[in-house]
Parts: sequence; structure tokens; C-alpha cells
Amino acid sequence: MDSRDVPAPSGRRDVAVLVPAAGMGLRLGGGTPKALRELAGEPLLVHACRRIAQAPSVAMIVIAAPPAEVAAVRELVPGATVVPGGATRQQSVAAALAAVPATVDIVLVHDAARALTPPDLVESVAAAVRSGLAAVVPALPVVDTVKRVDAAECVLETVDRTPLRVIQTPQGFRRETLVLAHAQAVDEHTDDAGMVERLGHKVHTIPGSDLALKITRPVDLLIAQALLAASHPS
Ligand code: CTP
Ligand code: MG
Repeated sequence: MDSRDVPAPSGRRDVAVLVPAAGMGLRLGGGTPKALRELAGEPLLVHACRRIAQAPSVAMIVIAAPPAEVAAVRELVPGATVVPGGATRQQSVAAALAAVPATVDIVLVHDAARALTPPDLVESVAAAVRSGLAAVVPALPVVDTVKRVDAAECVLETVDRTPLRVIQTPQGFRRETLVLAHAQAVDEHTDDAGMVERLGHKVHTIPGSDLALKITRPVDLLIAQALLAASHPS
């Protein structure tokens, strides 16, 4: 029996996690699709999927891979379902969602780029959806001062940050909510909850994690290396 055989606190393994991983990583640079960029000798996608799989509720992982890398990704993450991703994140999520069996009621969407997200956060999002919420996102307070600027980069105003939140993934949904949101989306959204908000549905927040940072720029890779080293002191 390995750790995946430990029953979830709910006793259920009823969650599909969609992993959009088809992006090119232009802001990170380096010429390799970001999900395949290495951190401590392993692709970001492998770090992300290992942590997802450690969440006891997770029944299946569906990866939207860069189309040219589908076969390579199948080898990297043998237990996962792998589909070719699309030209935008939203299209990649839609492609992965189409591969989820109709029997699965709870669907999480989790960026491959948030490679160090702890299994506990995956489990907390799943548990919040299972408890009856239609849409759940991890959120952190904004720590910096936020200002609105005009086209000339001149400050128009300082925004009250008290009610502002930085939103992470995994984002969790009842399957029918996410399917409806994708079916009705007209414009591009940077996250899935944004589409659900457009439907007029409530999106709940739970506390996020510093470890769920999105590796976007070169500095984020350095931060992730430091976080990993701190969690595995040699
Ligand atoms: N993603 C995807 N399909 C796309 C674009 C993005 O699956 N067509 C995924 C990325 O692989 C990533 C997540 O969505 O795991 C968040 O996107 P982002 O951090 O913007 O990654 P990239 O789009 O790869 O980076 P960039 O915008 O800098 O090119
Ligand atoms: Mg992008």
C-alpha cells in the first residue's frame, strides 16, 4: 500500500484535477515550454503532479500538454491522462475538461506553473467544494500598495488594498458549474473563476499558500529553488 491508498478524510477519491501545462513560458524565457523547465532536476510539471497526486481526494489528473510534447508528457507523468492543449490557457482547460468522465462531480483546475503547491491546499479546495460550494479559490492578501495609472503611467489614485486579494490555483468547481462557464464564455479569462463570476455565481475564497506562487519570471524560479531547498535542507 502506498500513500495514494490512504483514504481521504471524507473516505472518497472523487476529484479530477485539470492541469493546464501548454503555455510557452515567454516571460520566463529559455525556449522550452515552461511546464518542462527544470527545477532541482525535475520538470515543473512533475513537481506539480506529484503534489497533486498526494492529495487523498484526487482520483485522476488530466494534463493539457504542449501539442508537440504529448508523448513526452505521457512518459513523464505515467498515471495521468494527457491531451493536447490549445492556443490560450482557457482553451487548454476546455480540452482537459472534455476528457473528464461524466461520473466525476468535483473538478479542480491547477496551473503546472504553481509547481510547489502543497497537497494540503489541493485537499482543502476539494473539501470546500465537496461541502457544497460551487466555486472555491485560494486567496492571499495584497501586501504592496496598489495604484491605478493612466496611459502615461501617471498615478490616478491609490486603491484601498484591504478588500483586494491575489488569487491562486487550484480552483475548485462543481463539474456542471465549470462546464457551463466554459460553454458560455465569450471572452478570454486569466482564470476559471472569472468565467464563473460572469455567470453571476458566487465564488468563495479560502486561505492560499506562499508555496502556490506561479513561476512566471526568472526571479520566480530562483524563489522556488530557495523554497524547495528550505523544505529539504541537505
Ligand atoms: N497554459 C496552457 N495553455 C496555454 C497557455 C498557458 O495550458 N495556451 C498554462 C501554462 O502552461 C501554465 C498556466 O496555464 O501552467 C498559467 O499560465 P502562464 O503562467 O501565463 O504560463 P505561460 O502562458 O506558459 O507563460 P507566458 O504567459 O509567460 O508565456
Ligand atoms: Mg500565459
